[in-house]
Amino acid sequence: MIGVYDSGFGGLSVLRALRAKLPDMDFLYLGDSGRAPYGGRSADTILDFAEQAVERLFEEGCTLIIVACNTVSCVALRHLQRRYAPANSKLRILGVTIPAAEMAVAAGVRTVGILATARTVSSGTYTTEIHKLNPDIQVRQRAAPLLAPIVEEGWEHSTIAQGAIRRYLADLAECDAILLGCTHYPLLAREIQQEVRPGVRVLDPSETVADRLADWLERHPGFVADGTSQTRVLCSGDPTSFAEHGARFLGAPLPLVETVVEHHGRLVPAIDPRPPAGQIVR
Ligand code: DGL
Repeated sequence: MIGVYDSGFGGLSVLRALRAKLPDMDFLYLGDSGRAPYGGRSADTILDFAEQAVERLFEEGCTLIIVACNTVSCVALRHLQRRYAPANSKLRILGVTIPAAEMAVAAGVRTVGILATARTVSSGTYTTEIHKLNPDIQVRQRAAPLLAPIVEEGWEHSTIAQGAIRRYLADLAECDAILLGCTHYPLLAREIQQEVRPGVRVLDPSETVADRLADWLERHPGFVADGTSQTRVLCSGDPTSFAEHGARFLGAPLPLVETVVEHHGRLVPAIDPRPPAGQIVR
């Protein structure tokens, strides 16, 4: 089973591409929606949340985890790989930044703009990964902290979205391509495309992530057991709103959303119903 981890709903846009590319596989998605957004949080907090999520997914039986969240991939991936999936183990953790950087380089442009969360931008990871592949590409970055919450509200097609996108893109005006460096942004791709100069490409890395995973699985036969096209979904927030919003990202209705809660520093299945609100009258 392949685990897919994101701070919330956004990674369902990556899961969508993964399911299309690998339709026979089983997937377990974990969206930490109760603690999202991650994008403005400290690196230490992101590391802590990411450890809990990865431990949950491995405990559920995943052998491979895709960290779909750009913020976690930028800040915590190497730490997670060292701690939970060293080279000689039967577990693997892969991120999205290298496929995304490869896509940016393959676009063949001189200047690429990275639109991402504040923590992704401050990590500098995209600049590093792109320059490893081609040091001549100019990389510009712009943190866009309002965009993920706008998408979570379902306001992609609003004047609020348009205004925010316009302001953020003004700082990337000279770029020949814009890389969507956050799992929420594919839902804004059309609006972003409308705000850039003609000819500027808007790059959604989800499909490249799926292609690279398919390649990886071919090179590592048997690493992930054959599946039966099952998808399970866990979230740490409200499962009803997760199912409702998540369908926009997944492009399909979600299966029953199961809830996990933090308990003594671990994400565990929520078994007991919440205690009733209100007070007891004696
Ligand atoms: N999923 C996060 C990412 O791809 C964005 C949303 C958040 O801030 O939690 O970077």
